[in-house]
Amino acid sequence: MNVLTGRKPERRPVWFMRQAGRYLPEYRKVREQAGSFLELCYSSQLAAEVTLQPLRRYDLDAAIIFADILVVPHAMGNGLSFVEGEGPKLETVRSSSDLTRLKPGLKSKQFESVAESVNRVRRDLDSSISLIGFCGAPWTVASYMVEGGSSDRELARKFAYQREDWFRELLSRLVENSIEYLCLQIEAGADVVQIFDSWAGELPGDLLTEYCIEPIQEIVAGVRSRFPAVPIIVFAKGAGHRHRNIYLKTKCQAIGVEAECPLEFLQSILPAGAVIQGNLDPLLLLCDEAVVRKETLKLVSGIPRDRHIFNLGHGIKQQTNPDILTTVIETIRDHDHG
Ligand code: CP3
Repeated sequence: MNVLTGRKPERRPVWFMRQAGRYLPEYRKVREQAGSFLELCYSSQLAAEVTLQPLRRYDLDAAIIFADILVVPHAMGNGLSFVEGEGPKLETVRSSSDLTRLKPGLKSKQFESVAESVNRVRRDLDSSISLIGFCGAPWTVASYMVEGGSSDRELARKFAYQREDWFRELLSRLVENSIEYLCLQIEAGADVVQIFDSWAGELPGDLLTEYCIEPIQEIVAGVRSRFPAVPIIVFAKGAGHRHRNIYLKTKCQAIGVEAECPLEFLQSILPAGAVIQGNLDPLLLLCDEAVVRKETLKLVSGIPRDRHIFNLGHGIKQQTNPDILTTVIETIRDHDHG
């Protein structure tokens, strides 16, 4: 929170995307108990428990609420399931008649249970640790709805190019519902919110402006009008040099960065007040400890801690050895003291 609000941090803040997840044996145990991934997301007590698990193991500065970006379409009445080993399966939305199925997510049991998880975590979490709420960005979420699951997103991009009215309408409904969802998480105790646009990098030129930047800009404005003091992090993965435009237009407080984009370059193109979050390659966590130390040190040496939130460039991989995160965190703490 200090870094995000322009104050001097006591130390370099650290958290990891997907820090609660299948690489942790204690997560797998609770996941089994819950039955399915979605039941885990909507069982507030268990979701709060897995949110807190990484905080017990590691010296982290933030928790991220355990849920999924597909909670928003689910709450809007769009069918969703997770097939073991295959990922998400959604009812497809490919025309204006499919849109008539969608309803507002506010008051849904999905939104209510995530708010309840946030409430529980904030109650049990040390006040020095920030709690991050999140949603998916309209483009990324819409791509799952159009395709019906994980895919190459080419069908979604075709609809985007064709400027189909119903596709724009879908994005605007996602904007409205994402604002409500983030505000609900803030009311329940989230200190910060992050917007995940995992597939932003695949949008060329004008499409990035229309389908990534503009909808996120509306979400930021909508949340800020109700909660002006809550910082917003935008992770438009793969945006490269376009992170500058995203920062300037959305007016977010921090930019999340993919591993492919050098932080040195980003510091040179972003205004001095912009906070940068990232961007160690998640694959590195599968390498030897000495290499992990070296690359972590290289990263933190290249960016001052008052404008940096340490993270990965994308989520932790399932095969990651939990002990390697301790190595990363220790390396950052040692550098802080050095
Ligand atoms: O970061 C965190 O620790 C918070 C929890 C979180 C999850 N998903 C938990 C999860 C967050 C922030 C997400 C975001 C999310 N979900 C994104 C955007 C970020 C990104 O990774 O790019 C996307 C694209 C999704 C959609 C989604 N959910 C996919 C494609 C999958 C993979 C399915 C699979 O089988 O690998 C999920 C499932 C999911 N979300 C898991 C977790 C811990 C694994 C589910 C399990 O336990 O089986």
